[in-house]
Amino acid sequence: MALTQTQTTHSDPPQNADSDDFLSSNPQLNQEEHCSSLEEKPSSIGSPGKYLSGVSRFEREWDHWTKLGQPKYFVAPMVDHSELPFRMLCRKYGAEAAYTPICPQRVASRGYYGAFLMDNLPLVKSLVEKLASSLNVPVSCKIRVFPKLEDTLKYVKMLEDAGCSLLAVHGRTRDEKDGRKFRADWNVIKAVKKRGSDGVLSAETLLENPALFAGFRTAAWVAGNEKDYVDGKLDQTDLVVEYLKLCEKYPVPWRMIRSHVYTMLRDWFRLAPQVREDLNAQSRLTFEFLYRLVDRLRESGVRVPLYQKDNSAARENEVNITSFE
Ligand SMILES: Cc1cc2nc3c(=O)[nH]c(=O)nc-3n(C[C@H](O)[C@H](O)[C@H](O)COP(=O)(O)O)c2cc1C
Repeated sequence: MALTQTQTTHSDPPQNADSDDFLSSNPQLNQEEHCSSLEEKPSSIGSPGKYLSGVSRFEREWDHWTKLGQPKYFVAPMVDHSELPFRMLCRKYGAEAAYTPICPQRVASRGYYGAFLMDNLPLVKSLVEKLASSLNVPVSCKIRVFPKLEDTLKYVKMLEDAGCSLLAVHGRTRDEKDGRKFRADWNVIKAVKKRGSDGVLSAETLLENPALFAGFRTAAWVAGNEKDYVDGKLDQTDLVVEYLKLCEKYPVPWRMIRSHVYTMLRDWFRLAPQVREDLNAQSRLTFEFLYRLVDRLRESGVRVPLYQKDNSAARENEVNITSFE
């Protein structure tokens, strides 16, 4: 279980760091802009939730949700990957809320937190109770599911009783690590959800296609339904360029940039492997190198479009359906 939060901080790279650990530009240069546009304003939504229950608690939670703009599309927490420029990019393309990174599994296992707390539910209960009674903002949690539905439902009820206001359910068990191999279990998610405030979190798919929430789809997604889609006139090289510009403004370690570039351009690199080789060989990245890399991909004649639903086809179908009635 992860207790979720939003924060935007910068830290100096450790001594003896690999060059990929250095920040992509000088944070001081952008501090003013960073603070003015992005720092979270502390929300004031009343006193700690200790004695709140029933209707008043529900109203407080609803109030908070409304203040957040009732978000439905979330960038999931991703250690080393949901950093500020990536969150900003996703926000431009339809994400309405974003988690900052929380923690990687192996660190969680060693430190006994995250999903590893599922072995000690009384401890989870006391943590959530303590937070809910001490903080003046609602507590949100993110959980994985148990193999048995009834165990998950008991877990959810316990969290709710302990004071959790907003719950994100990752519909896989703790051992189902490979998202491509194990699909999220939507039946559990359906069984857990209550009230009308459902949202959806995305992690891996956004890494490949940060424009997902704006309706853009990769070729793999539309496969089999090509006739319903058209070229969206946006592709992953455009998204990489936008992301790099954000990284120039909001510095992050180069290793994060390298990883995003690989993931967003994965399909392009398959068609232009030499360009990928050159990226592999470049031990020290610069923006100039990366912009040039994008230009080379574009000049190579390769293009991997993102697609959008063909609304004219949808309208035509509607007409056909009407004419059958
Ligand atoms: C690169 C990466 C890093 C992640 N880091 C975190 C993390 O720090 N904390 C966390 O609670 N979940 C983390 N996750 C899990 C995601 O938040 C999400 O629950 C999971 O990937 C399922 O969503 P998906 O099927 O859309 O990928 C991470 C996932 C990825 C792909």
